[in-house]
Amino acid sequence: MTDSAVASTGGLPEGPEKRQAVEEMFDRVAPGYDRMNRIISLGRDTRWRKRTVEALGLPRGSLVLDLACGTGDLCRDLADAGYRAVGIDFSAGMLARAHTDAPLVRGDAQALPLRDRAVDGVVCGFALRNFVEVRAVFDECARVLRPGGRFAALDAAVPERVIMRAGNTVWFRGAVPLLGRFLARDADAYRYLPRSTAYLPPPRALLDLLHEAGFAGSARRTMTGGSVQLITGTRA
Ligand SMILES: C[S@@+](CC[C@H](N)C(=O)[O-])C[C@H]1O[C@@H](n2cnc3c(N)ncnc32)[C@H](O)[C@@H]1O
Repeated sequence: MTDSAVASTGGLPEGPEKRQAVEEMFDRVAPGYDRMNRIISLGRDTRWRKRTVEALGLPRGSLVLDLACGTGDLCRDLADAGYRAVGIDFSAGMLARAHTDAPLVRGDAQALPLRDRAVDGVVCGFALRNFVEVRAVFDECARVLRPGGRFAALDAAVPERVIMRAGNTVWFRGAVPLLGRFLARDADAYRYLPRSTAYLPPPRALLDLLHEAGFAGSARRTMTGGSVQLITGTRA
């Protein structure tokens, strides 16, 4: 890893090194990913995903891309809500562990294997901070969405309230790496995942990026004391 690659995010990789590190890490953690997700989120992640799908507000039967779908939790929620889902992820390991009937494609979020205006909606769960270039991914989402199409992305956030922020730090920086070490036998991955929130642009900047990519009415709301954020927008 080069010095310049780690400079701006305090030791985390960037550029092509980040892409490779993220893909390898998800391939590695895939077998225990779902169980660790439930534990880390204290069972809340299922509700957060449902809210994400609800935020689309599209007619039943709409075609929705689950971007960086992982093991396909959001694909299942989309199907439950009456949408037609398709999932894309670059980790072969995560796709191999997927538990959804939706069609899944191996591909990169920064170069989606979809034609222009192909989908009515895009959802994305806990992946923004894993992308090398968030703006490039927003551009791709704008390209594959039809005008009026909806975008909803869920990710971690840093709570504004001091007490919540302290609790968040103790849980994610202290307990989660330990749980990762003993339950998933991968302390490195579960140390990286909480640290990777440092990649996320601040809330205002994230909404500006979405707006610049061609989305109107971009909005952000938080859940669970500000520890999770939901970013939404409509393709102009
Ligand atoms: C934390 S997991 C989230 C999985 C799923 N969306 C969920 O809500 O459980 C992040 C996912 O993003 C995928 N990912 C990261 N960067 C990607 C990229 N550039 N293209 C496609 N998938 C990517 C990873 O392989 C991983 O499956």
